Amino acid sequence: MPNLHTNFFLEPLYPANFGKSEFKFVAVSKKGERLVMSHTQGCDLFLKINKTKKNYLIKGDKISRPSQVAILQQALKDYRDLNKIKPINTNIDSKKQKSLIISPHLKSIEYFIDKFKNRKNILLEIGFGSGRHLLYQAKKNPDKIYIGLEIHKPSIEQVLRQCELQNIENILVVDYDARIFLEFLSSNSVEQIFMHFPIPWDKKPHRRVISKKFIDETKRVLRVGGTLEFRTDSNNCFKYSFNEFLTQQKIALCVNKNQNLEINSKYEERWRKEEKDIYDITMINQEDSNKIQNIGVLKFYETVEFCSVKKRFKEVTLRGDGFFAHIEDIFEINKNEGLLRVSFGASQKNEHSYIFIKKNRVVYFPNYILATKDNKKAHELIKGYLWNM
Ligand SMILES: C[S@@+](CC[C@H](N)C(=O)[O-])C[C@H]1O[C@@H](n2cnc3c(N)ncnc32)[C@H](O)[C@@H]1O
Repeated sequence: MPNLHTNFFLEPLYPANFGKSEFKFVAVSKKGERLVMSHTQGCDLFLKINKTKKNYLIKGDKISRPSQVAILQQALKDYRDLNKIKPINTNIDSKKQKSLIISPHLKSIEYFIDKFKNRKNILLEIGFGSGRHLLYQAKKNPDKIYIGLEIHKPSIEQVLRQCELQNIENILVVDYDARIFLEFLSSNSVEQIFMHFPIPWDKKPHRRVISKKFIDETKRVLRVGGTLEFRTDSNNCFKYSFNEFLTQQKIALCVNKNQNLEINSKYEERWRKEEKDIYDITMINQEDSNKIQNIGVLKFYETVEFCSVKKRFKEVTLRGDGFFAHIEDIFEINKNEGLLRVSFGASQKNEHSYIFIKKNRVVYFPNYILATKDNKKAHELIKGYLWNM
């Protein structure tokens, strides 16, 4: 990930503009961590300044890191040039200049809430990695809409670039945990779900994406006759998943071993070279599911004084049955404004975010957070923390 090291560095007065970026403010934690809010090419992100004994390390903050790394790279370049920093070490001048334009294929949660209501015949790929399979499918079926879900930003960037290079128009890429996103989709709206070579987590099975709850959700979103195609190279993960599939009612299951697909993903190629067995489980949904209420985003409707939050702040983990909220750190912008860093949601699929406390507003930053059942419960814990501390 892009970063720069420097021995000497004088911070500017904020707000400050340079190049394609506006640096709006710095937020400082109790431990001295500094987050500089940068608005670059229409994207809000934090640059993080770590001071060590010998030098400064300036890099992108993980929670607010944009899906397209070129935007972060540009923000770092602008910050370097604004402050006339002479880096002793940096990787932000890579010769391969990636596109700075936000790809029209990259879709935010806001887009799905406002513009994507009740669409039918969607196809999903969960964890598309290098995107070979997703790109192949979308090219082959230009009249269908493919949603690609991925949390690994370099993979996202690679697929966005390929969509452009190959003129593919029917892929929507979402940088969000697939388990949470599934809960948002309308019932009976999906034709096919592909999940090829998820990380098997054979030594830490609790980290697997696949679980009974996950399969419940995939079945709910699949239309009658719709399929979930699960493919793995791990015998252990195959057996575990097969048992989880068996907990479902009104489905057909089809198991294949060493079946050839029309296209091999990058992972598949590796396993084939190693002559590993490959297992497929296809679940065919056989019943309509009940409709669910539309899921919106989490919002705060009350305001709170930042200075009172700051006075009472303590790091704490609040727990409910299967959900939690961890209030990690507090950052001050000025006496009326600041941020809390939080992680919260279901125990196994949590959100990481900031809560931005402004003069008359409290909002999650940088992303909209889907109001799934567990997120809503965890949000109540956060509200309790903010207003009844
Ligand atoms: C082992 S790779 C397989 C990639 C690709 N399907 C292939 O066959 O080459 C698993 C991918 O799943 C992604 N992933 C893991 N957890 C995820 C989640 N909760 N939501 C979406 N993607 C996830 C990872 O970032 C990774 O790219």
